[in-house]
Amino acid sequence: METVGILGGTGPAGRGVAIRLASCGYDVVLGSRDAARASDIAKGIAPRGDGTVRGATNEDAAQCGLVVVATPWDSAVATVSALRAHLSGKTVISMVNALSREGRELVPLYPARGSMAAQIAFALPDSTIVGAFHHLPAAQMEDLDSGLDADVVIFSDNDPARQRVGELVSQMPGLKGVVAGSMSLASPIEAFTAVCISINIRHKAHSYVKLAGLSH
Ligand SMILES: NC(=O)c1ccc[n+]([C@@H]2O[C@H](COP(=O)([O-])OP(=O)(O)OC[C@H]3O[C@@H](n4cnc5c(N)ncnc54)[C@H](OP(=O)(O)O)[C@@H]3O)[C@@H](O)[C@H]2O)c1
Repeated sequence: METVGILGGTGPAGRGVAIRLASCGYDVVLGSRDAARASDIAKGIAPRGDGTVRGATNEDAAQCGLVVVATPWDSAVATVSALRAHLSGKTVISMVNALSREGRELVPLYPARGSMAAQIAFALPDSTIVGAFHHLPAAQMEDLDSGLDADVVIFSDNDPARQRVGELVSQMPGLKGVVAGSMSLASPIEAFTAVCISINIRHKAHSYVKLAGLSH
């Protein structure tokens, strides 16, 4: 099975994706600016299944067959730009949301190209960008016993790439990949994360997206 690298994989978002990928057999490289820190964090991740999680540098993670961007929004472009050569020709998944806290709410920010996925696509013209994982609460993702049963909305301008990511997501325990469409959906999908988190703050909850009315 192919390896998956996660840039900024040491944060809660990256760790949550890593444990669920490893629990369905993938070997995951948690990327970091500090390989020793990533290695320590990876040792604390206990997937169920045949996959593995190891810590390394972001450069090591970028050499995997499939790469996820899980840094804060304001460092995502700089991080991927520095790794452009390694990411060339690959599918790169963005889970990055540009958000700002205002009191008890999170509000969406709109980058110059409308979304973080579009910013990353502009920085990586030789890669195929797919958006996924935006709405998932990291604490539930990290806990394999949380009962998570979420739909993951996926978008890309490249149909084979978004289908491939949809199939991968649907292998992960507790998740179903739902391809929504093209990159033009990136802005509302990313912005909707602000709604999800604001609901969670207001209702002291860990809600997630589950779409009704889908037959498959
Ligand atoms: N948290 C969630 O529930 C959730 C859910 C869905 C999507 N997301 C999205 O996923 C991304 C990561 O979220 P998170 O909560 O895991 O964030 P985070 O903990 O703030 O950051 C993730 C990792 O990014 C690296 N990082 C931090 N500042 C950096 C910088 N200036 N340059 C390069 N790397 C830097 C750090 O790793 P090192 O110090 O090890 O390099 C950090 O552990 C965000 O874009 C967020 O919108 C989050």
